[in-house]
Amino acid sequence: MPHIPPEVIEEIKQVANIVDIISEYLPLKKVGKNYVALCPFHQEDTPSFTVSEEKQIFHCFGCGTGGNVFTFLMKYKQCSFYEAVEEVAERYGINLSRFKFSPEETAAYERRQKLYTVNQLAAEFFHHYLLHAPEAKVARDYLAKRGIGKDTIISYTLGFAPSKWDALVRYLQQKGMDLSLGAEVGLLVEKERGGFYDRFRQRVIFPIFDQKGRVIAFGGRVLDDSLPKYINSPETPIYKKGYSLYGAHVAREWCQREQTVMLVEGYFDLLSLHAAGIKNVVASLGTALTQAQARILKNLAPRVIVMYDADAAGQKAAIRTLAVLLPLDLSVDVLLLPEGDDPDSFVQREGKEAFLRYLHQAQPLLDWYLKQGEERTRSDLEARFTFLKEAMEIISLLKNPLKQEYYKDKICAMFGMERPTLDRLSQKQDPDNIFTEMAVLEEELPVFERRLVKFLLHCPEYLGHFSLEELLLEIKHPILRALLQKMFALYTKHQRLETDMLIAELDEVSRGLVSAWLMEEMPEDPEEVAQGFLFLLQKRRLKRLSEQIKEAEKAGNWEKLTTLLRQKNELACAFKRC
Ligand code: UTP
Ligand code: MN
Repeated sequence: MPHIPPEVIEEIKQVANIVDIISEYLPLKKVGKNYVALCPFHQEDTPSFTVSEEKQIFHCFGCGTGGNVFTFLMKYKQCSFYEAVEEVAERYGINLSRFKFSPEETAAYERRQKLYTVNQLAAEFFHHYLLHAPEAKVARDYLAKRGIGKDTIISYTLGFAPSKWDALVRYLQQKGMDLSLGAEVGLLVEKERGGFYDRFRQRVIFPIFDQKGRVIAFGGRVLDDSLPKYINSPETPIYKKGYSLYGAHVAREWCQREQTVMLVEGYFDLLSLHAAGIKNVVASLGTALTQAQARILKNLAPRVIVMYDADAAGQKAAIRTLAVLLPLDLSVDVLLLPEGDDPDSFVQREGKEAFLRYLHQAQPLLDWYLKQGEERTRSDLEARFTFLKEAMEIISLLKNPLKQEYYKDKICAMFGMERPTLDRLSQKQDPDNIFTEMAVLEEELPVFERRLVKFLLHCPEYLGHFSLEELLLEIKHPILRALLQKMFALYTKHQRLETDMLIAELDEVSRGLVSAWLMEEMPEDPEEVAQGFLFLLQKRRLKRLSEQIKEAEKAGNWEKLTTLLRQKNELACAFKRC
C-alpha cells in the first residue's frame, strides 16, 4: 500500500467537503448548522447520525461511531485508508499518482517486483520438473492416485521439488537471480557458513497466487506419511497470511458463472473438486477466515457455501465464518458432509454426480447454527443462555433488518421463548456497541479531567499554554492520558493540532468520544476558560506540594523538604502574579 505524505492529505482536506462525500451515500437533511441522516452503522428509526460541515466530522449519537471523511468511507465501504483517500482525491480531481512513491518507496517497490519474479521462476521450475522429469514420476503417480490429472496440474501450476539440496539454488543462479531474494521469499535458506540451500525438497508444490495472478507463496506436501505433512512459505513482504484465498485466480470466472463460491479447507479438497469438474472453489488453507478473505469471497460471488471437514474442528471453523461473512451481506450456506469425510474424500469416493446431488443438502449456515445450538444446549440452561446471547450478536450482524426480525422470531419458536424475553437478553450485551462503552466511559471520566481535555480539543491553539507533564499529574484516566499524549505529540510535530489527524490515530472508542465532544458548542471565551484551567491546575499543584511537604516533615526528610518548600515558594509567587 503506497504511503500518502501528510501534505497530500492536507491538500485533499482543503478542498474536500465531508457533506458532499457523505451525501453520495446517505440522504443528508439540514437541521440547524448540521446535517442528519439515519445511521448506516446501526439500526434506527429517527436520525441520530450527524455531520458537521463546519468541523468536517460526523458523529452518530445513537451508536457512538464518529470520525472524519476518511474514517466514514473506510467504515461504510469496508475499505483501506488508502482507498478512502483515493476516492476523495479522485472526486476533487487531485492526482495521487504523483505523490505515490518516495525514492525509498520506489526502491522497496522494485525489490518487491523482484520477489514476484523469483517466485514466478520457482513456480515454473517446479511445474516443469513435475510434468517432465523422470525423477518426478513418483509425484505424478501420487497425484494420479489422488485423482489429480494433468488439467488440474496445469490450471494450478502444481509442481514437484527435486530431492537435491541445491536444485532451485542452481536454477535461480542460472537465471541470474540474486539468491538473497530467494531467501527473502522463503524458498531458500541461508546456511550459517554462507551460501543457500533449497527449503522445499521432495514435495508436491502448490504455488499460491494473488488476485492478480502473481505467485506470492508456496505450500509443499510430502508424498508419504512423514511429518510435517505440509510446509508453507513464511510471511514475506509480498505474502501476508489471511490476505489471500487459494485458487481464487482460477475460480473467478466459474464463480461468476455459478454466482456461488465454495469454500473448503485444504489444497486437496479444492483440487479434487476441480478435477471432478467443479471449479468455483477456493480454499482457506486451514486457518480461520479473515475479513480480508471474506472480501475476496464477496468479490467472487454473492453466495458462499462453506464446506469444511465433517469433524468438530471443521464445524467450529464453519460457525466462526458467520461473524466474518454476515456483515458483508453475503448469503452463507453450509454443506455438512457425512462423518469422517472432507470434500476430497467424498468426491473421490462418490463421484461428481453424487456430489452435485448431495449439494442440494446445503442449508443456510445460520439456520444450521441455531439448530445445533438448540440441540446441544437442551439440558444445560446456562449454556443455552450463553448460546442465545452469542446467537443474538451474530443475528445483529445481518445487514437486512427484515432478516434480523425473521431470525429473532425463528429463535423464539425454536427455543420456546417470547419475543420480549429475547429482546431483553440481547439488550444487555453487545460488546461491540461503542455507544454503551462510551456511555460508561463518559460516566466514569472525572468531570474536571473530561472538561479540560474537551476544552483542549475544541481550542487546540491553547495546547502551548499547558505542559503535558503537568497535565499528566492531574489527568488519571488512561483513555484521556493516551488522548492527551497523542494530542501533544501531533501538536509538537506540526506546531498545531488538526483534529482530523488526531481522529485518524485513535481507536474506535476514543474516536467516538472525540467526535461527540467536537459536536458540542465551542466555549465562547476560550481565553477565559484557559486561564481558569491554568489557575485550577496551579492550585492543585500547590495542594499536592503542601501534602508532600507534610509527609517529608513527618518522615524527617529535610533535604526533600527544602526542595519542596522552594518549589512551593516559587509557585506561590507565580500565583500571585497572575
Ligand atoms: P488437512 O490436514 O485437512 O490436510 O489440512 P488436507 O488438505 O486434507 O491434505 P491431505 O488430504 O491430507 O493431503 C488442511 C489444510 O491445512 C493446511 C494445509 O493448507 C492443508 O491443506 N495444513 C495442514 C498445513 O499448512 N500444515 C499441516 O501440517 C497440515
Ligand atoms: Mn484431506
